[in-house]
Amino acid sequence: MKAVILVGGQGIRLRPLTCTTPKPMLPLANAPFLLYVIKLLKTHGINDIILSTSYLPEIFERHFDQMSLGVNITYVREDEPLGTCGAVKNVENLLDSTFIVFNGDILTNLNISQLIEYHRKKKAKATLTLTSVEDPTAYGLVPLDKTGHVLEFLEKPSWDEVTTDLVNAGTYVLEPEVLRYAPQGENYSFERGLFPTLLEDGVPVFGFPSSAYWLDIGTPKKYLQAHHDILEGKIALNFEGEEIKPQVWVGKGTEISSEATIFGPAIIGNNCRVLDHATIFSHTTIGNNCEIHEGARLEGCVLYEGCSVGDGAVIKNSILGKSLRLGKKVHVEEIAVLGDNMVVSDENYLKKGIRIWPETKIEAGKIQF
Ligand code: GTP
Repeated sequence: MKAVILVGGQGIRLRPLTCTTPKPMLPLANAPFLLYVIKLLKTHGINDIILSTSYLPEIFERHFDQMSLGVNITYVREDEPLGTCGAVKNVENLLDSTFIVFNGDILTNLNISQLIEYHRKKKAKATLTLTSVEDPTAYGLVPLDKTGHVLEFLEKPSWDEVTTDLVNAGTYVLEPEVLRYAPQGENYSFERGLFPTLLEDGVPVFGFPSSAYWLDIGTPKKYLQAHHDILEGKIALNFEGEEIKPQVWVGKGTEISSEATIFGPAIIGNNCRVLDHATIFSHTTIGNNCEIHEGARLEGCVLYEGCSVGDGAVIKNSILGKSLRLGKKVHVEEIAVLGDNMVVSDENYLKKGIRIWPETKIEAGKIQF
């Protein structure tokens, strides 16, 4: 069976991280997120993967060409983004039997084999994976009848319209024939376009309610949560590193001062240096080749590779892109997101969801909120 993974979006909500790296290629526990999706597919015997790219396509091609993953990857570039269903219509010529579609930004441990079996048993033409959410009014709801048929698609309903907490989880099994309902070369979505059209035409569309772990990593808050959930073991992921003490995983060549303190769960990549009196509090992920200087304190944050954190700096619940230089006593807190190659000189306070573009240089003491 073939899988189409949709990876063409611009990931605007995760800027500035996505200014330089497409969202599915952002690191998750120090490896590209998409790698986990590909491995999950492979676990369920799906080795034929079509990557539908549009934004920064060469980054996918460059990375996966070099890796021997044991899967066959076909890259298809869109000149203009065609939307979720338009992107699949665009690769229709490669699809000649039942196939699966994955959004490239969903972290899940979904049992894909069960999903496919359900689709076959129901003789469905389209099966949508559904997940339950706490606040159904923020999503498109998908109520089902007793046999699992989708009854309707309710976009962002008011509370009195809510009859289910099941929402579209962005993973579908489809028969190629449903694509004849999709226009060629036009921007077209599954959610608002194809699926409602199939229902109108009486095509059997089924829902597969799943209690698997499910998280859309598309905002800084959710992206941090994905890391925290992995560290807490809410979803089992095979990330690299040796467990040097309970729940502290450290990569090769990393040196940690005996005067530094680390509280797990935490991940520290390869060839890092953690200097005297630095403290790594729990839920922290540090990429390869990072330096954490004396007395710095990190908690609940994600640092990409090549970052240097100055003496006495504090980083909490925030995301640092690649190769950042933070001076002494810089504070980065409250879901701040800093782009690649920034230089932040001493004693700046970057807080309250601040987002700063890659390459920006901030002089000492300039930002104090
Ligand atoms: P935002 O800009 O932050 O909304 O993120 P996004 O661009 O990724 O959009 P969204 O989260 O709605 O997309 C869900 C999935 O579909 C992601 O994996 C996207 O990469 C992918 N996607 C969205 N639009 C397109 C498109 O036009 N073409 C292709 N090939 N993939 C798309």
